[in-house]
Amino acid sequence: MQAILVDDKYKLIPGNVDEPDVGATEIKIRVKAIGVNRADTLQKKGLYPPPTGVSDILGLEVAGEVCELGINSKRFQIGDRVFALLAGGGYAEYVAVDERLAMPLPENLEYGKGAGIAEAFLTAYQALFPLADLKKEETVLVHAGASGVGTAAIQLAKRMETDIIVTAGSKEKLDFCMDLGAKVGINYKFTPHFDEEIRTRGYDGVDVLIDFVGASYFDKNMSIMNPDGRWIILALMGGRKTNEINLGKILIKRLKIMGSTLRARSNEYKSELIAGFSESFLPLFGTGELKPVIDSTYPLEEVEKAHEHMESNRNIGKIILKV
Ligand SMILES: NC(=O)c1ccc[n+]([C@@H]2O[C@H](COP(=O)([O-])OP(=O)(O)OC[C@H]3O[C@@H](n4cnc5c(N)ncnc54)[C@H](OP(=O)(O)O)[C@@H]3O)[C@@H](O)[C@H]2O)c1
Repeated sequence: MQAILVDDKYKLIPGNVDEPDVGATEIKIRVKAIGVNRADTLQKKGLYPPPTGVSDILGLEVAGEVCELGINSKRFQIGDRVFALLAGGGYAEYVAVDERLAMPLPENLEYGKGAGIAEAFLTAYQALFPLADLKKEETVLVHAGASGVGTAAIQLAKRMETDIIVTAGSKEKLDFCMDLGAKVGINYKFTPHFDEEIRTRGYDGVDVLIDFVGASYFDKNMSIMNPDGRWIILALMGGRKTNEINLGKILIKRLKIMGSTLRARSNEYKSELIAGFSESFLPLFGTGELKPVIDSTYPLEEVEKAHEHMESNRNIGKIILKV
């Protein structure tokens, strides 16, 4: 089959590889669309290696048509339209995946939209609910609010009647986040002390923090957390090492600081996460109450352009590759 491979200068090039074997409880998907993730841009440079035993082809999520069933797989039929969370292997004509990690694609969504749901919404769902235990009417701060995961987090948090505060790097991004349901938008390029700005806007602090930035925001994050706050670290785009940490603040505020990467979790964990998400939120894609935010779509041959677009921080929501 055709797949996108990485050459020794980190360029993405088309190549031929064997089709994946289908395990007993797996399905094979004929890939129609692929979601691009920041992890792909790191993996191609050798900065985010795939977990042991996983294909070294890039690609953490696809939408497509079921074209083969493992001997013990029961959930889908040949021809079903699905979207799936992968640990790798998505930048290809075919991918095999544990059937529990695939979800039926709502009828109203075309493949290009379906490929933009799994990573963004499952990551946001995991952070807000199983990890942060978000409660009604709490205050949530989402950094990189216009990112793929950020736009999903805004939509999910809004369902809990929360006040959502976002940071982002342009007016266009902030306006988009406000249209999605954020109440306060802060441009960190003009207002680097977002913690002071949040207080100026009438909030004592935030209960839940979805943090993709890490070190460069650490002190300000610590300052703005409310007592009993839950701070979920999902990425370290602003660096991984901080100055001295005053542990007293964690103690006095009774903070919970948690980190997580979805990709490295077991299939059991992911399948439970998907079951919870499917029960609470998947039907809302069918009714249009939740929407994958798609920034742009590129043909697979233009995968390099798609990566450049993400690496230059220009996207609002997801970038999709069409096969
Ligand atoms: N832990 C997990 O399980 C998990 C799962 C999925 C994704 N992630 C991570 O979550 C992050 C968001 O993913 P995504 O695919 O949604 O990203 P994305 O759509 O590519 O958006 C990332 C945005 O972050 C902002 N940004 C970049 N560098 C920054 C910095 N140093 N300080 C502040 N903001 C910065 C930029 O927007 P502005 O213009 O606003 O600066 C950029 O457009 C990525 O780092 C990704 O690797 C983690």
